Amino acid sequence: MSNLCVLIMAAGKGTRMKSALPKVLQPVLDRPIIDYVISNAQSAGIMPENIGVLVGSGGELAEQHITRNFQSVKILWQHEQLGTGHAVKSARDWWKNYDDLVVLNGDLPLMKTESLRELVSSAGKNDCTVITFEAENPGAYGRILRGENSVSIVEYKDASEEQRKIHEVNAGCYIFKVKSLLAVIDSINNNNSQNEYYITDALALMNEKGMSTGALILPEKEMQGVNTQSELANVTRIKRFEILERLMNNGVRIVDPESVYIGEDAVIARDVVIMPNVQIWGRCIIGEGSYIGSGSIITRSVLGSHVVVTAYAVIENSILSDDSKAGPFCYIRDGSYLEEKAFAGKFVELKNSHIGKGSKVPHLSYMGDATLGHDVNIGAGSITCNYDGERKNKTFIGNNCFVGSNTMFVAPVELSDGAATAAGSVITQRVPENSLGVGRARQKNIADWSLRNRHHNTTTEGEK
Ligand code: UD1
Ligand code: MG
Repeated sequence: MSNLCVLIMAAGKGTRMKSALPKVLQPVLDRPIIDYVISNAQSAGIMPENIGVLVGSGGELAEQHITRNFQSVKILWQHEQLGTGHAVKSARDWWKNYDDLVVLNGDLPLMKTESLRELVSSAGKNDCTVITFEAENPGAYGRILRGENSVSIVEYKDASEEQRKIHEVNAGCYIFKVKSLLAVIDSINNNNSQNEYYITDALALMNEKGMSTGALILPEKEMQGVNTQSELANVTRIKRFEILERLMNNGVRIVDPESVYIGEDAVIARDVVIMPNVQIWGRCIIGEGSYIGSGSIITRSVLGSHVVVTAYAVIENSILSDDSKAGPFCYIRDGSYLEEKAFAGKFVELKNSHIGKGSKVPHLSYMGDATLGHDVNIGAGSITCNYDGERKNKTFIGNNCFVGSNTMFVAPVELSDGAATAAGSVITQRVPENSLGVGRARQKNIADWSLRNRHHNTTTEGEK
């Protein structure tokens, strides 16, 4: 590869989005638009230090996001947004020392890596090559004007009626010989209907100087720009089905693709069954033969093989090992870990808790900052009182413990191996090995109480 750099234009206001969030940070599924463009450049083999992102409108947010997620990518500033030509010019000090410059609109999340590779490999062929596509509905895209051996672009707002009928349009991706661009960039003016400096004018200026311009035609599907909320939804839909198709081609069974949302970073093995209305976001790994029931939302989590998520489970930043089971109706979050064959069942919340092999938290429980050994059974309604108003405290429950229903663990507290608690206990002290902890008031029966208080449980006329 020649000495080449990629400049991504992401400084625009995105006025047509009518949103406070900068356009390039608007999400397509679970990632901002700009992530797809930067990742694509990296996948095409461009080293991060040769990728520059131009930020401006909402630039602080964009800069923060990019530096956090893409190390070594260069952030460049366009302080005033005077058009794409002005944008490229603002970054001149950065790109002028390269031989070839690829310029990409920052609002093209669907572009394929092979297409970018094709553009990159045409370096040096022309002074400028632009990517075009045949648009079914060319809308407001810049129209491609073809000369005998040259190409130029007229923006929709400046185009004549005749020119507007052209269906070949500008995708917003270009490769320039740096020397040639340097020769024309100062001649780009803003004498047009938008009073903006257009990078698209560089082609006509090159043609005037006898330089060569050409086009690379690519499929419309991957070249759609995002300018409005409706285009964002449309692009998101295309991306979503691309991901689902890829997963299904790898043997994942998605029962109803129309209702399932899965982000690009999910790795899902074959024979995983995904029921309707499931969402899977961020870096998730799901092992072979697992089952994800309806209404479940899984975010940044790892599920082993043959895990069963019955239905309506919310799982975040957690690990569920092979053959473990969750749901229905559970919330597993913040670094929780189910070992093999562990179970978190109905109306159970686990927060930062470790559930040992084969241990069960079947119903109506909250385990926060708790560590359970293997083969523990937690009775219904038991909870850890892990927060004392200042600190989060830990609960340790050893192997083979049996916790009676409605036990309160006032943390920090510990049950040693084989210990048990009596139902309804408030456990405030360690329960030694194989002992029973009873922490409740002793029952006392009051004879004939009902007879003396009959009015409490009968309803007489006029008294309701
Ligand atoms: C642009 C092209 C148009 C093409 C279309 C493809 C120009 C003049 N027009 O139009 O021919 O068909 O893309 O999608 O280039 N930006 C900046 N600084 C600015 C202005 C824009 O960084 O001052 C960035 C935006 O953030 C965006 C990209 O450049 O990522 C394109 O800008 P946008 O306003 O979307 O241009 P279009 O009107 O779509
Ligand atoms: Mg655009």
